Amino acid sequence: MVKVFVVYDTKYGNTKLVAETIVEGMKEVAGIDTAISDVEEVNLDEVADYDAILIGSPNHWGGPVCGIKKLMHACKRELTECIKVNIR
Ligand SMILES: Cc1cc2nc3c(=O)[nH]c(=O)nc-3n(C[C@H](O)[C@H](O)[C@H](O)COP(=O)(O)O)c2cc1C
Repeated sequence: MVKVFVVYDTKYGNTKLVAETIVEGMKEVAGIDTAISDVEEVNLDEVADYDAILIGSPNHWGGPVCGIKKLMHACKRELTECIKVNIR
């Protein structure tokens, strides 16, 4: 069983709709267990139990919104390691 956590932020509801649609699609696939949360309600300790994390953000001024940036900041140590290894 692959556990997938979907976290999103939304102002007008579009990103929430996309996130919920992705979760509905995954529920049709055997072997995928999903959970979904608004970024305002996410529990990072809970997220640690998942195999994959899908992050959804509205595009504001060419980048993710503040709530998603805060989420990424909270994961800063892991992100920094990824940047060192994978991202040029
Ligand atoms: C302050 C602000 C900045 C935005 N900047 C961009 C942008 O740079 N590029 C873009 O294509 N859309 C931009 N948009 C449009 C949003 O990405 C779009 O409305 C999105 O669907 C909002 O998602 P939500 O309904 O989940 O809040 C912006 C919207 C707002 C309110």
